[in-house]
Amino acid sequence: MTYSYDHYHHAVAFRVWAFDVNAQAEIDTHVGKDTQVDESDIVKLVYLQAIVKETLLLYPAAPLSTPHESIKDCTIASYHTPAGTRLITNIWNIQRDPCIWCNPSEFQPEMFLTDQANVDVRGQHFELIPCGSGRRSCLGISLVLLMVHLALAHLLQGFDFETPLDAFVDMTKSA
Ligand code: HEM
Repeated sequence: MTYSYDHYHHAVAFRVWAFDVNAQAEIDTHVGKDTQVDESDIVKLVYLQAIVKETLLLYPAAPLSTPHESIKDCTIASYHTPAGTRLITNIWNIQRDPCIWCNPSEFQPEMFLTDQANVDVRGQHFELIPCGSGRRSCLGISLVLLMVHLALAHLLQGFDFETPLDAFVDMTKSA
């Protein structure tokens, strides 16, 4: 199968838009202002982790999964699926489903600290699968999660973010 996603581009352009004072305060508390955050600190930075989850929920780098093809006839949720059927999972749609998520288009990382605290992005919770699920899920998942958390933590530790005149940043996707 040709692997068609530009992962490097997605990882670099990762849409972390909640450069939030809460996350900076969390880093100050658990790491301090004079020590640079490192890998071992990430586990303590639960708000930062919640921001990353919420960002992957709202803006999955791969809105559609790679195509999967069944090699034998099977029945999935009472649907007969002949061998050779191609399945592409609409990750974006699942992750914006109002039957699953409350106010699915709102950025609300706090829910991952409260009622959705047990939901993670590693493919065990089918409502949040930015890296796919099962045997063909993203091979880079551990690297990705480590690098994204670390990069965001370094940015938050090193910079204060603001827009000119506190202008609103429109993150709505355009064509
Ligand atoms: C934010 C970053 C990334 C996201 C959100 C992401 C997401 C995904 C998704 C959704 C799939 C398809 C899973 C499926 O069809 O079920 C996938 C496949 C894959 N990813 Fe990633 N990916 C990321 C970064 C990376 C990186 C950095 C690497 C390599 C170091 C990587 C390696 C792969 C490979 C090899 C596959 C194909 C696995 C297979 O077909 O068996 N990914 N990724």
